[in-house]
Amino acid sequence: MSFISGLPHRSSPYFSVGHFFRVLNASVFGVEPSRAIAGFKLENYDVDYATGFFPPEPLPRLSGPFELWERALDDAEGNISLGEDTRESAKAKRPYGESWRERVRAVSIREPDCFLQRAHMILAFLVHFYVHSQPPSDTPTPVHVPESLAIPIVNVSRALGIAPVLTFADTVLWNAIPADSQLPISANNIKFVRSFSGNSTEKNFHIASAKAELRGVEILRIIEDYAQLPDIVDVHAVSKTARDLRRLVTVVQDLTDILQNVKEAVDPYSFYWEVRPWFRGSGCGASKWIYDGVPESDSLDLAGPSAGQSSVMHAIDVYLDVDHQLYQKRSPAPSEENKRADKGRYMPGDHQAFLRDLAALRVSIRTRAKTSPLLRESYDLAVLALKKFRDAHMRVACLYVISMANTTPPGTPEEGSERQRTQQGPRQGTGGSHISSLLKAGRDATDRTLLGRR
Ligand code: HEM
Repeated sequence: MSFISGLPHRSSPYFSVGHFFRVLNASVFGVEPSRAIAGFKLENYDVDYATGFFPPEPLPRLSGPFELWERALDDAEGNISLGEDTRESAKAKRPYGESWRERVRAVSIREPDCFLQRAHMILAFLVHFYVHSQPPSDTPTPVHVPESLAIPIVNVSRALGIAPVLTFADTVLWNAIPADSQLPISANNIKFVRSFSGNSTEKNFHIASAKAELRGVEILRIIEDYAQLPDIVDVHAVSKTARDLRRLVTVVQDLTDILQNVKEAVDPYSFYWEVRPWFRGSGCGASKWIYDGVPESDSLDLAGPSAGQSSVMHAIDVYLDVDHQLYQKRSPAPSEENKRADKGRYMPGDHQAFLRDLAALRVSIRTRAKTSPLLRESYDLAVLALKKFRDAHMRVACLYVISMANTTPPGTPEEGSERQRTQQGPRQGTGGSHISSLLKAGRDATDRTLLGRR
């Protein structure tokens, strides 16, 4: 119902999700959307033909995660007094005011993240559907991602601190729901909302990653316990840490089993030709992507997703002090190939902060283990388990990518058969890195972490 009646009015196309993004673009990030397209028309400026600068309809009460803000305001009205008001009636409201402000500080910013996360997931799927549904051209030409997708995904990504492209968070973390909605999400009660191919290969691939992610929660708890220890050199602390490192060995072994079990549920040929191509990012294969309307398009992080973007996997590395960045002097020295394989981070900003803070927390467990025989043995067992995971992962990647690059694509007369070396499909990672050098670099960095080597 119109709250200003009397004049006929047209509904504005801008009073919608599109409106939300325009507001995000223009006011939060200072990006001005183009208005030239339809000329100087009221509707292009969110001006209604009947109500002028008033919104054409009364604004609906915020719902979903945003309802929190509505409720906070409900609570404020009548219960909060002016800070400078010194009357007794005002002073009586001060304690409530303090608890109210604390509540606002604690929740009001975090909750809408789920809206942005969902928006990122939807937009990232749209971008990859848009790019990869186009038949490849004979000559490598840049692919243009239209402004309608490019501007919102860049802005939403900035708010979340994540790359403006499909990431592990989109395909797995933010895409997962419980298969039975009555029960909590778990490795045996999970399904995925969005899919590119719709086939079981894609689903089972994500299930394997999700199982690993959920199994890895125990590692996060181990890490938190370590961070909370009042004194890491205390004898109880050392024996608890040693026990926890043994627990970590078991978890990493389970991750290795989960990884190897993909062979039972994920078909390599279908994975390589029907699923993986959807994940490719800019520069993977022939074409670079250009985000139209985004001035800094060239400097965006646009590699595609892999389980290498799992914050759990990164957390294990940070906790054990595996030096992928090759900052520290370790033996044997990294090769040039190793150095080239280092790649950017594509986790949500909060999770990146978790990893940064974890790295800065205290003297690393590796440094402690050097001088403590009890820790040293457990520590090396944990690193060894991680190295074995990476050895197994290299074998999986070889089967699913490197061997499959030698097969002929679906729809060709010799579909699925082995083909000549000169015609091989891409062996790059979804991010464009050459797979074997990237994975070997990770495996070698883990190997260099072992204290027993020295
Ligand atoms: C069919 C199953 C899988 C295949 C074919 C596969 C393939 C790959 C490839 C090709 C990369 C290189 C990154 C890129 O694409 O640019 C990669 C990275 C990575 N993947 Fe997988 N992956 C699989 C399953 C998994 C699972 C289940 C996990 C976790 C348990 C995992 C963990 C990792 C990690 C941690 C990296 C980063 C490199 C490293 O840290 O060693 N992968 N994967």
